[in-house]
Amino acid sequence: MGYLKTIGLLTAFMFIAATAAVAEERDPLKTRVPADELADAKAMKNPIPVNDANLAKGKALFEGKGTCFNCHGKAGDGNGPAGAILNPSPRNFTNCKFHKKRKDGELFWVIKNGSAGTGMVSLVPGTITEEEAWTIINYERAFCKKSADE
Ligand code: HEC
Repeated sequence: MGYLKTIGLLTAFMFIAATAAVAEERDPLKTRVPADELADAKAMKNPIPVNDANLAKGKALFEGKGTCFNCHGKAGDGNGPAGAILNPSPRNFTNCKFHKKRKDGELFWVIKNGSAGTGMVSLVPGTITEEEAWTIINYERAFCKKSADE
């Protein structure tokens, strides 16, 4: 019995590992906001100014209360410990092309409503407040500057 259990666990693990190996991001350049809500989402303005103090707050929230780093990774590249088993993979915030294609309001919409059929579930207001979400968005934008991409 113990032996069979071990085999079963091993098989399950190998399946997860294999899934992780093929998992990738779903097209990062395509908006996740439904067409009928897109104009409103795009028009939303981020009320949090970008400055060193607020970016530090964003980092603390991203790596703490918000739990974002678990999936998106501390480096923002989508390779967090929990992100590895997700399919599609979490967003890679070091990709500047992604940031160029999105308004802050579209990101806010996803943090509030989640992205259907993915590990990105609604985190406002359950995990963080609206103000905290806007603060984290500024921090996520900053990962792009560290990219060699652009
Ligand atoms: C359980 C894993 C998980 C956690 C925790 C998580 N995310 Fe995500 N996130 C994902 C996945 C997976 C995607 C990709 C969804 C897709 O491709 O549609 C994603 C996508 C996103 C996007 C991209 C939306 C877009 O328009 O493409 C943003 C912004 C985002 N997450 C912000 C956050 C923030 C902020 C937090 C923390 C408050 C967070 N995420 C926590 C898994 C997670």
